[in-house]
Amino acid sequence: MKQAIIKKTFEARATRPEFLTYIQDELKLVEQKLYSNIPQKDNLLSEIISYILKAGGKRIRPSLSLLIAKGTGQVIKKHIILAELTELIHTASLIHDDIIDSSLLRRGRETINSLWNNKVSVIAGDYLFAQASVRLGEIENNEIVKIYAKVLSDLCCGEIEQFVNKFKTNISWNYYIDKSMSKTGSLFAAACKGAAILNELSVSEIELANNYGRCVGIAFQIKDDLLDFTSSAEELGKESCSDLKNGLITAPTLFALTSEDSRKEQLKQLIESEFKTDHENYDKAIRLVHELGGCEKAEELADKYIREAKNSLSFIKDNVIKEHLSTAADFIVKR
Ligand code: IPE
Ligand code: IPE
Ligand code: MG
Ligand code: MG
Repeated sequence: MKQAIIKKTFEARATRPEFLTYIQDELKLVEQKLYSNIPQKDNLLSEIISYILKAGGKRIRPSLSLLIAKGTGQVIKKHIILAELTELIHTASLIHDDIIDSSLLRRGRETINSLWNNKVSVIAGDYLFAQASVRLGEIENNEIVKIYAKVLSDLCCGEIEQFVNKFKTNISWNYYIDKSMSKTGSLFAAACKGAAILNELSVSEIELANNYGRCVGIAFQIKDDLLDFTSSAEELGKESCSDLKNGLITAPTLFALTSEDSRKEQLKQLIESEFKTDHENYDKAIRLVHELGGCEKAEELADKYIREAKNSLSFIKDNVIKEHLSTAADFIVKR
């Protein structure tokens, strides 16, 4: 019953921005292609893969691929496959991320690890990564293969970096941005760069597409990290207020820890206690992050990346589509 309520609230909130309506026919094709990855055999794997693929999700990465494809030439069949495989990789990474974070909610539903268990979650994530590789082969473009192979290794590096640095209060901004690039920016950049490569743009234009995706991706992660502090599970469709509890030092906390305010020492001690003994310590730490201006500063940092993303859009000649890509970037930080 609780699960159904969360799902309902989560869906009711979703309004459809215009940039999505603009590519709705292409997105429908991607959606159909995604469902073709559900195993034919009526077994546990097919049940789980169907469960996660049909749970929704914003499809933001495929949308950027498609907009760039449309803004730089034609949307060809390989662009649809590129968008599909990007979403497959993203979904696989979420399944594995939910095991690592012991999360109970995803896309407004119970996670695979909570509804089934960690063991089948590993297999389900691996299966989607494997399907993404099959699709990558279908694109028959060696440059794109290399880019996505690097995305897969970046994802692992990002997750392990985060894992080994739990509850460490001396992490640097370089570490945080690099980790966000590995976990999130890399796949966004590939989705944008790959679309430009398929339309045979010049090297400098492809680099601009890559930079747009990179900046949007980093901003997306910063905003996600901020929403963890400011939104409810009903609004997000996944757990909130859980990053710091799990020891993840994200932008709002890092800003608070590096502020001029002397209360940052208290915050440092609270985090280093790992909230093992006293639950009130956790509430105190969250309050301090807010009071030391961590959330406002994280918002400003995300805005900075969005501005850089928009400055890279000179490779899009069509003004309507350039505007849609600009709105898509804004949507990421205003959601
Ligand atoms: C969540 O991604 C994970 C991050 C990279 C922050 P999304 O917010 O795009 O997840 P879905 O696909 O919409 O569920
Ligand atoms: C993004 O990071 C997950 C991946 C890129 C695998 P988060 O850990 O912040 O994602 P959520 O908040 O669980 O969706
Ligand atoms: Mg997570
Ligand atoms: Mg998060």
